[in-house]
Amino acid sequence: MDARGKKVIVTGGVRGLGRALVEKLVAMEASVAVFDLNAQGLAELRARHAGVNCFECDVSSYEHVTEVARRYHEQFGAADVLVNNAGILYSAPLVRITMSGVERHDAAMWDKVLAADLSSVFYMTSVVVEKMIATRTKGVVVNVSSVSAAGNAGQSAYSAAKAGVNALTATWAKELSPMGIRVVAVAPGFTETESTKEAISEAVLRETLKRVPLKRLGKPEEIADGILALIENDFFNGKVFELDGGLVI
Ligand SMILES: NC(=O)c1ccc[n+]([C@@H]2O[C@H](COP(=O)([O-])OP(=O)(O)OC[C@H]3O[C@@H](n4cnc5c(N)ncnc54)[C@H](O)[C@@H]3O)[C@@H](O)[C@H]2O)c1
Repeated sequence: MDARGKKVIVTGGVRGLGRALVEKLVAMEASVAVFDLNAQGLAELRARHAGVNCFECDVSSYEHVTEVARRYHEQFGAADVLVNNAGILYSAPLVRITMSGVERHDAAMWDKVLAADLSSVFYMTSVVVEKMIATRTKGVVVNVSSVSAAGNAGQSAYSAAKAGVNALTATWAKELSPMGIRVVAVAPGFTETESTKEAISEAVLRETLKRVPLKRLGKPEEIADGILALIENDFFNGKVFELDGGLVI
């Protein structure tokens, strides 16, 4: 599918990978809507691109997603493309050995990460696809996963959430392809975004880069190009496209 002129919803489009994708979609004259919880970031985005439709939405809340998507659909009808990009990066092992003993993974953080990184994908896709099917709209759902889905030591919740995203990608491709809706995923490796800088120390990043054959972080624009390629290629379906500089070989 050519994204030019299409209605595309990008979650988490205020910054990072989502923002790089939004910039490219705007240049392609797609009709872009951003669902993000960062109200100030949305205002800045709107000021820069008057044509981008900004919706303040916490995609980890089913009630919020249902209400905001209803407003989107009232205004624009069914979307052609949904990119489930919003998410949070959180690193913690199952148990941590400290000076004072053994510390368990925080259960509230487990719930928060699963809600933001996995349930959000279920909520957004169910409401957006419901409208697509009701209006016989053919299209594409792109889920942003991670190479951590394979199981990354120190990232219990994040790895589990992204593995769930991969499973949903395969499941929904089987369910929705007969209705003309492809479902695909991209799994970035370490990418140069604010979240990476906030969550991973310089020292850990340097060590990590030793394992990447290309010896560098990915650029948000490179991941955005990958997402556009997946939207465009009508034979790519139900699979995860790893875009990681060769980290997982
Ligand atoms: N940066 C990386 O190295 C990397 C690697 C692999 C996968 N990913 C995935 O890529 C996606 C984007 O990551 P990023 O690095 O650009 O992150 P980021 O933190 O730079 O941007 C995330 C965006 O999502 C929004 N967001 C977060 N939680 C939200 C919620 N509950 N509701 C609505 N909006 C919400 C934020 O406001 C922000 O605009 C995530 O799914 C992440 O897991 C990132």
